Amino acid sequence: MSTGNDPRLIEVRSELPVLGVVNYLNTGSAGPLPRVVADAVAEAATAQVAEPRTGSAYYERVEAVKDACRAAVAGMLGCLPTEIALTHNTTEGMNFVSLGVNWVPGDEAVTTNVEHQGALLPLWVVKERYGVTVKTADLLSAPCDPVDAVVRLITPRTKLVSLSHVSYSTGDVLPIAEIVAEAHERGVLVLVDGAQSFGALPVDVVALGADFYSVPGQKWLCGPEGTGALYSSQAAVSQIRTTFASYGTVDAYNDYGGFLVRPDGRRFEQGTVHLPDLAGHLAALEWMSRAVGDRWAHRRIHDLAASARTLLAGVEGVEVVTGNDHAGLVTFRIIRDGAQGMQPDDLVRELARRSILIRSIERLAALRLSMGFFNTADELVDAVDAVSELVRTS
Ligand SMILES: Cc1ncc(COP(=O)(O)O)c(C=O)c1O
Repeated sequence: MSTGNDPRLIEVRSELPVLGVVNYLNTGSAGPLPRVVADAVAEAATAQVAEPRTGSAYYERVEAVKDACRAAVAGMLGCLPTEIALTHNTTEGMNFVSLGVNWVPGDEAVTTNVEHQGALLPLWVVKERYGVTVKTADLLSAPCDPVDAVVRLITPRTKLVSLSHVSYSTGDVLPIAEIVAEAHERGVLVLVDGAQSFGALPVDVVALGADFYSVPGQKWLCGPEGTGALYSSQAAVSQIRTTFASYGTVDAYNDYGGFLVRPDGRRFEQGTVHLPDLAGHLAALEWMSRAVGDRWAHRRIHDLAASARTLLAGVEGVEVVTGNDHAGLVTFRIIRDGAQGMQPDDLVRELARRSILIRSIERLAALRLSMGFFNTADELVDAVDAVSELVRTS
């Protein structure tokens, strides 16, 4: 694949050996694993064979890695390290907050119809367990003002708005800052699913005003699976009740008495961690900020996705779903003569046979390309050519 003359792109791609095997256009599901991250995981795992996993030196090392991970995530989100809890994935953070709201029967939550199960499933638990009504804003009907669609569902019974920053299905960036401002005026907390934004576009949780922002490590950050983080603003954290309590949650406890919960966002952390995963998480955060560079990555992702929209729009029989305001995801449908052409899953399988990795979005009967900072323009052209040929010949 041509990398042009960009030395950084050459360097970045040399850290991602899987790119020599496949045309990797599905970072929205999971990014490619950099060699430096795999090495950090392996080194930490190997060290555990020869060293005790107990004792003050080991515990201090674990705490130091946790501190460094929180600080690095906080640096990327524009918040304080103490506002970060290390989690195992996006959905875990969505659960901690959704389940912890002080719900009583008849309360309401608002979400949208472009959300991933990571946001929706915790809300269904809340609905079942506490008798909460979950209202769904329609962001798919055109024309649509997302702020109005969400805000008009808020009533005096609403306690939480839960929605994504970048929709996994449409690929659109949602106007989080505007929605937060309206929700806060009505005394409503906002929980943001950052699975498709963290590492894909600049995020400043303070500027957004979000109360909670949950992110993964394994997608746009290219970190190990089983890693993630939850931001909780210092102002909002005390409004969430504890669902899972462990020594990560408390500052002090009495075995048969009570406990004093940590005063900040770290209270959502649980017990024993898998140090190799965290070492890999830290390596990914450091690789992204030092070798790749957040701004370089965000710009490449945006520019490649913009090219993907343009190229796909030029293919006969293809309709682009993703609008102008996008990050790295580009969703499209196959339409022929007004009728549905090849089924999305057939196309995903056919592309996979050609070593091109994308995914389908069942709910929209659509397909989704993820443009990573490591992808080349040639890879994009190859994928769009393959789509075009399959649409033409199917
Ligand atoms: C918007 C969104 N939220 C949540 C998830 C689930 O992420 P995780 O596996 O980190 O919980 C995904 C995964 O694709 C997603 O796209």
